Amino acid sequence: MLTESLALYQKRINFQLSSRIDALDDIDPQLKAAMKHGVLLGGKRIRPFLVYAIGEMLNVKLETLDSCAAAIECMHAYSLIHDDLPAMDDDALRRGQPTVHIAFSEATAILAGDALQALAFEIISEPIENITPSQNLAMVKALATASGYSGMCGGQAMDLSATNKQIELSTLIQLHKLKTGALICCAVQFAIIAAKVNEVEQQALLDFAAAIGLAFQVQDDVLDIIASTEELGKPQGSDTESNKSTYPKLLGLEGAQTTAVTLVEDALSALAKLPYNSQIIAQFARYIIERRV
Ligand code: IPE
Ligand code: IPE
Ligand code: MG
Ligand code: MG
Ligand code: MG
Repeated sequence: MLTESLALYQKRINFQLSSRIDALDDIDPQLKAAMKHGVLLGGKRIRPFLVYAIGEMLNVKLETLDSCAAAIECMHAYSLIHDDLPAMDDDALRRGQPTVHIAFSEATAILAGDALQALAFEIISEPIENITPSQNLAMVKALATASGYSGMCGGQAMDLSATNKQIELSTLIQLHKLKTGALICCAVQFAIIAAKVNEVEQQALLDFAAAIGLAFQVQDDVLDIIASTEELGKPQGSDTESNKSTYPKLLGLEGAQTTAVTLVEDALSALAKLPYNSQIIAQFARYIIERRV
């Protein structure tokens, strides 16, 4: 059931994203090609999945969720392009392809990331079917917060500061929550804003999002050790080689895996508080720590 649902939403978001990029004019074909490379060549699309699956669970129409899914994925794609740059993780492989700065140039990769970030805001600020201007504005604010200093960028900065260093677990938790958890939470927030759910349900959904957001990065750290480059489509052992602060480094591989299991249990308890059919989303939470890619 999850596999079908993932595939369905993947197809939908891929169409949304390719239409958006194709609609851009040709003032700079190189930059456009680099944006395409960064956003269209693969990717699990888990953030769009969350927008669509949670949105549908809350009775929001798919047409209303398209812009939210596209905006969050453009922001994510930008974060990956910049994450791979020589000044950051200096990785040459992503989604089984050369990273954008390798396929194009460093300058083009920087600009492709910048342009995708701007495109994310362009998409989320446009009129959306069944969405009022104040809901639009709330989405813009959620995306800005999740991607800026108090979100992804802040987390990425903490990640760089924590490299070649021993840090406390509490710092690592905060780092992971920001660099990866924030955008995952934003995907859920989009669905909440579109659906206008009550406070209690909102809290349960946000608790769910926080738990899977952290679990997702813990598993990403685990996969850096246990999965192959072929499976991952990105260089295995990149974190170890760069001496990054990760869950396995602080807690050991088993400790990290146990933490991931506990986080998914937390996510499932939050989900169980909701009066909806959340079967697919529960399956998705388990998939986060069972995945090999
Ligand atoms: C990788 O994200 C970077 C992290 C935030 C852990 P994903 O694992 O979602 O990457 P894609 O989009 O599927 O390639
Ligand atoms: C990246 O974390 C988080 C982002 C904001 C992009 P990682 O550096 O661990 O992601 P991968 O392993 O390169 O995909
Ligand atoms: Mg990184
Ligand atoms: Mg990286
Ligand atoms: Mg990683």
